[in-house]
Amino acid sequence: MPKVTGLEGIVAAETDISLVDGIQGHLIYRGYWAKDLAVQKSYEEVAYLLWFGRLPDAAEASGFQAKLAQLRELPAHLKLIIDSLPGTIPMMSVLQTAVAALATPDFAWPPTADQAALLTAVLPTVIAYRQAKLNGTPWVGPDAELDHTSNYLYMLIGKKPEEAHAKALGAYLVLGMEHGMNASTFAARVVASTQADLASAVCGGIGAMKGPLHGGAPSEVTAMLEEIGTKDHAETWLRHVLEQGGRLMGFGHRIYKTRDPRAEALQAVALQLNGQDHWLDLALHVEETAVRLLEEYKPGRRLYANVEFYAAAVMRAIDLPAELFTPTFTVGRIVGWTAHVLEQADVNRIFRPQSVYTGDMPAQ
Ligand code: ACO
Repeated sequence: MPKVTGLEGIVAAETDISLVDGIQGHLIYRGYWAKDLAVQKSYEEVAYLLWFGRLPDAAEASGFQAKLAQLRELPAHLKLIIDSLPGTIPMMSVLQTAVAALATPDFAWPPTADQAALLTAVLPTVIAYRQAKLNGTPWVGPDAELDHTSNYLYMLIGKKPEEAHAKALGAYLVLGMEHGMNASTFAARVVASTQADLASAVCGGIGAMKGPLHGGAPSEVTAMLEEIGTKDHAETWLRHVLEQGGRLMGFGHRIYKTRDPRAEALQAVALQLNGQDHWLDLALHVEETAVRLLEEYKPGRRLYANVEFYAAAVMRAIDLPAELFTPTFTVGRIVGWTAHVLEQADVNRIFRPQSVYTGDMPAQ
């Protein structure tokens, strides 16, 4: 049997964009604590930081917010494409289709920050447009007066969002923006390393993000908590999954061998938003029980809550439906993907690792 490593411990690139320290539980974006940026800075300011390497001053920040706002509208051909997709096509596949359909010749290599801005600006509009079609509700187009996060919620719910909800979502989007060489970012960098256009690289990222071991986990966390239902059922339910050799969604991480700092920050955001309501109370109890049982069934693996566990709590508290959890994660993470593709372009060499052949040889 070949040894399956999942490239653990392999350095695939040098980066100035973020530091993920899994032992100390630190996450740093270009010299700033991500947890501080999440509560002190807007989506646009952190996107600017990740793309251009420094935080904008006040004039740059408002100019940049206005620029992104101007790019939100869907081109007519994109609406036609989305309208023609059967309702059974999942939102993540709709996003891939939409991004691929935006790759005009202007998107030729090398990637630029303007291309990144266009894809980033348009993604929430694609989600909201598709969701309105699916639900048969009136389509509420983007409002250029609103910032990126508030506008996303505005398009989804059809009215100006509560400030607390926009702030909570903003914190989540910033905390989800960037995370080193995670699977989707690596996928995007691999595609970019062939000198394919930025839209193709983002499509690669979206594909990797869709899987339940990566960005698909938060809706599964909600399903798990709903199935558990009450605190007194938690231990039996969790034990049953572990006895069957199953995985507890929202726990474990390749890099973090401590509690994910994003889970820590999002737990505080969720608590601020709703106080300790029934659902959050259950989540806290499930976390405590799961960590104890994971140590019992998987001793020494150091499995703790990851970002997805409390991401589910925040998104639920602001009434986002579960099918939008992974697309919403993507609205944040597209900034990290595009920042990495810009960085890749500066130092590019095609990714081409080797494999070890373990099959049969010809008879002669
Ligand atoms: N529940 C139960 N056991 C687990 C879990 C879990 N959530 N995570 C890891 N393990 C166990 C594995 O079964 C394995 O046990 P073994 O040594 O007896 O074989 C051991 O811990 C190591 O697991 P690996 O799969 O080798 O760890 P890896 O680093 O490859 O995987 C991953 C990391 C995919 C996140 C994993 O922990 C997992 O599947 N978690 C659940 C899904 C999830 O929450 N994903 C979101 C991650 S955050 C993000 O992507 C934004």
